[in-house]
Amino acid sequence: MDYGHLPDKATLILSENEISQRVRALGSLISFDYHSVLKKDDLLLVIGVLNGAFVFMADLIREMSVALEVDFVRLSSYSDSKTSSSQVVMLKGLEREIKDRHVLVVEDIADCGLTLAWFVDHLKSRQPASIKLAVAFDKKSRRQIDLNLDYVGFELDEGFLVGYGLDAARRYRELKGIYSIED
Ligand code: IMP
Ligand code: MG
Repeated sequence: MDYGHLPDKATLILSENEISQRVRALGSLISFDYHSVLKKDDLLLVIGVLNGAFVFMADLIREMSVALEVDFVRLSSYSDSKTSSSQVVMLKGLEREIKDRHVLVVEDIADCGLTLAWFVDHLKSRQPASIKLAVAFDKKSRRQIDLNLDYVGFELDEGFLVGYGLDAARRYRELKGIYSIED
C-alpha cells in the first residue's frame, strides 16, 4: 500500500508484494550462479547505478547468500539533438578496483540501453574477471543497442514508470509499487 503523493493518473502496474516475490527469486538465482564461480574468500562486487538502483539493490543484496561488497557509480545520459547522438557522463566513479574481480552491475531499468552499454564498455577496459547485469525492469521493445541482461525482474511495456527507485523529475522514488504515468 502506497501512502499519499501518488502522481496524477497513475496506474498500478506491479504491487509491492509482486516485486518482493520476484526479487527474492532473483536473489536465489543469482546466488546459485555465483556459488560455483566465487572462490573461497572472494567477494562479489555489486555495483549500483545511482540514483535509481538504490531501492532494488538494497532489496536484492538482502536476498542473496554470497559474500559481497558494494560500490556505486552515478551516470547521466542525455541526447544531443544537434548530432542525434547520445552521451553518457560519469558523475561519480567507482571507489573499488575491479581488475580480476567478479562484478554484478545493478540498474533500475534498461530502456534504449545506452547507459548500460556505455558502462559495460567502461568496466571491460578495466579487466574484471566477469561482468553480469541485473535490472529490475526491462523495456525491451525500446532497445537501440544490444544488451546482454543476465537477470531481469520484469519485462514491462507500459509507458513511463515511477516508484521502486524510478523517478519522474526526481519524484516518486519512494513508492513501494511500480506505477505507469502519462508521459
Ligand atoms: P537507457 O537504457 O540508456 O535509455 O536509460 C536508462 C535510464 O533511463 C534508467 O537508468 C532510468 O534512469 C531512465 N529511465 C528509462 N525509462 C524510465 C522510466 O520509465 N521511468 C523512469 N526512469 C526511466
Ligand atoms: Mg538510471
